Amino acid sequence: MGDPQLLRVAETVVPVPNPGLAALLVDMRETMAALSGAGLAAPQIGVPWRVVIFGVQFSPRYPEAEPVPETTLINPVITPLDTVLEDGWEGCLSVPGMRGLVPRYARIRYQGVDERGTPIDREVSGFHARVVQHEVDHLDGVLYPTRIRDLRHFGFSDALFPGQEFADD
Ligand code: NI
Repeated sequence: MGDPQLLRVAETVVPVPNPGLAALLVDMRETMAALSGAGLAAPQIGVPWRVVIFGVQFSPRYPEAEPVPETTLINPVITPLDTVLEDGWEGCLSVPGMRGLVPRYARIRYQGVDERGTPIDREVSGFHARVVQHEVDHLDGVLYPTRIRDLRHFGFSDALFPGQEFADD
């Protein structure tokens, strides 16, 4: 947080053919795995492209979270499916060691393509919807702290949740 690269609007990507895309995805998957994240957006590793990856298997670190399929999503578009916002705790690999309570649409449709250009079109809710909204925000230069409605609900993970271990996402 503070790096101007995280505040830019990322560029639309031509997925096929795109020789740089495979290398980018290798870097992104390694980075996400090394940091035990739930998702990662290309601008977080300095690449201003509209590419995100996400996915969560059941983890004791996210005991409340339903699994989210491992997904590569390029040029994503999100459509809220109703107006209901839910607050939930988020972290971010670009804001290490911190958590904040962030409102997100409870139900969304998201569309885009994968790295082969195959369309993705899903309707999701809850944690899955939250992860996608968080990652797609990165493509528009938005970091979650700017969405927190009450900054008393923003702080260091170990102060907010003593004794708990968190992966950042
Ligand atoms: Ni993030």
